[in-house]
Parts: sequence; C-alpha cells; structure tokens
Amino acid sequence: MFIEENYVLLSHNTFGVVAKARWFIAYTDEQDLRKILADEYFRSLPVFHIGGGSNLLFISDYEGIILHSGIKDTEVVKEDEEFVYLKAGAGMLWDDLVHDTVCRAWGGLENLSGIPGEVGAAAIQNIGAYGCEAKDVITEISAYDMQTGEKQTIPCVECAYAYRDSIFKKAWKGRFIITHVTFRLSKKPHYRLEYANLQNFFAGKEINLKMIRETIIALRAAKLPDPKVLGNAGSFFMNPCLSKTCYERLKKSYPDMPCYPVNQGEVKIPAAWLIEQCGLKGFQQGNAAVYDKQALVLVNKGNATGEEIVRLAEKVQESVKNKFRIDLHPEVIYLP
Ligand code: EPU
Repeated sequence: MFIEENYVLLSHNTFGVVAKARWFIAYTDEQDLRKILADEYFRSLPVFHIGGGSNLLFISDYEGIILHSGIKDTEVVKEDEEFVYLKAGAGMLWDDLVHDTVCRAWGGLENLSGIPGEVGAAAIQNIGAYGCEAKDVITEISAYDMQTGEKQTIPCVECAYAYRDSIFKKAWKGRFIITHVTFRLSKKPHYRLEYANLQNFFAGKEINLKMIRETIIALRAAKLPDPKVLGNAGSFFMNPCLSKTCYERLKKSYPDMPCYPVNQGEVKIPAAWLIEQCGLKGFQQGNAAVYDKQALVLVNKGNATGEEIVRLAEKVQESVKNKFRIDLHPEVIYLP
C-alpha cells in the first residue's frame, strides 16, 4: 500500500492540471482496502476514488483522501459454448483488458478499444464508443459498501445504466468501491459495425476482432488528442438528447443539424456539431482551448488551471445555449 500526504496529482489526471490531495492512498489488494475502510481517521475525511483520471478535472486541491485501486487480476469465472465470463480487477487499465480479450478471440470489448482509464471507472461511467457501451457486456460488479464495509455483488440490472450514467453516479454516488467487474464475452463474435459506417473500412475483407480494434484505435488517434502530448479528458460534454418535436423545430432553422435515434420519442444531437456551429472549434481562452480536430474535446495548451478549463467550458455552454437553446452537460467530473 502506498500512502502519501500532500501528494501532487499531476500523473493522475489526463488534463495535466496541477492539484494536490491531502492524502493519496494506492492499495494493491482487498485486504489493504478493508484496512483502509476500517480506519477511524480515514472514515472522518472526505474520500474520492479515482481510476485513470481520464474523466476528471481538478479545480483546486482536494482536502481529503484520493484512493486508487491496484487490483488488476483477471479470472474466467464461468464458461459455456457461447460465452466466457471474465472477472477483471477495477485497477486494470481498460485498454489492457480490451487487448487481452481481443488476443484471446473473445468478442464484446473490441469497439471500446483505445479508451483511456481503468476498469472500475469504465463500469461507473458506462463508457461507450462506436455503437457499444460497457453495460452491453457487464454482468455484475463486486464492490465494498463504504457505509457497512461489507462486500456485495451487484447485478448489472441494478446498476441503472444509461448513456454515460449509472446508479454509482446518482443514488449510490461515493457509496461503493468497486473491486472487480465481470464481463460476458462472446466466443462467436457478433461484430457491431453500424456506427460511423465502420463496415466501409472492411469492404471485401474477412473481418476479425483484431482488425476492428486496430481500425478503431486509428480512428480515435485521428480525432482525439493524445493526453501525453496535449492534456484532455476525451469528450468534455455529453451529447444532448432532445425530443423529436424539439429537433424538428430546430431543423427548420438549421437544416443540416445531424441527429441519432435514441428511442421512439428522442434523438441525440452531436454536441461537437453544436459547438462547431458556434464558431468555437479551435477557440482558445487563456491556456485552455477547444480542440481543433474534435470540437467536443477541451484541451490544456500548457499550464492551464482547472478553473481556466471550467471557464472555457462555461463559455461553450453559454454559446450553445444562446444559439440553440440547448443545455450541454459536462461528462467530465469536477473535483472538488
Ligand atoms: N462533429 C462535428 N464537429 C466536430 C466533430 C464531430 O460537427 O468537430 C459531428 C459530426 O456530425 C460527427 C458527429 O459530430 O458525425 C459525431 O462525432 P464523433 O463520431 O466524433 O462522436 P461524438 O459524438 O463527438 C462520441 C463519444 C466519444 C466516442 C465517439 C465515437 C460522447 C460524449 N462521446 O463522440 O466518446 O469516442 O462518439 O463513438 O458520447 C468520450 O466519451 O470521452 C469519448 C471520446
């Protein structure tokens, strides 16, 4: 277990913002975690559990404990003719898991290739890309209840999964510490190639999981900045959902406005399109900017503070609201 006071969190947030935690505790196994949960001093302080820090924005120092999981084991817990049930540690890098499953020819995670972050946070956030979401393959979550210190198994149906949302972000916010996530992976892959005409990339070729993974990694690299080069947290905002009636009304003024169906009555509008229409693609304010290749991404141009990035986010929200009367909600979590 690693414990340090006044710890600089620079390597724990992909925005590359300088912030400190009063305490930083990285545990490596469940035994350590149980010790931390039973500690009286620990229980008296605010706690935030981080993953890879790829969806976080530190606005100031954190006057409590930042916890980080080092649980990285994987285990096949069940297998039948069609599926493998793989249990993975919450502290494992998400893309290491995807790489591992693709190499073993188990399908289900390939469209989620190249996403930064760790397994536990992926399950809280319900990460999604290229027509797939983590919830499509999660079967259950193993977690400690911070209130009782007891371990629980939470089935996927109880997680209230929705677009970039789960019960762990709402009613159970801050209550559970996830140790493992179990995924149901397919031995006979069913490729999901509807989004962004993915199938065009494979015309005339025999598709396999590795090809899909490589294609998606290349697509992401072309549009999303590498956090090691330019600090960022992927999509800063969620794509807003509108009623079809509202969308039809807006389309009269903006005939090119794209949309994706959500359900019978609602559509999703790409927030990147709304931001670009406001003339903000590439816009820079202080040390923070709207990325010039993908308007949904905000970037740290060097030494940006969390507050500076928030001010840019507010400017974007205000512009979109004024032009389209649409509210953009951050996907990124602000801390504290
Ligand atoms: N678009 C623009 N301007 C831009 C970029 C995009 O107008 O600068 C429009 C285009 O019409 C494009 C559409 O937005 O067709 C969608 O763009 P893209 O395929 O890049 O996807 P996105 O909706 O911007 C979402 C996820 C991404 C995920 C991609 C691919 C959210 C908040 N974001 O972005 O997830 O990688 O789809 O599936 O849903 C993340 O969550 O951090 C993330 C990167």
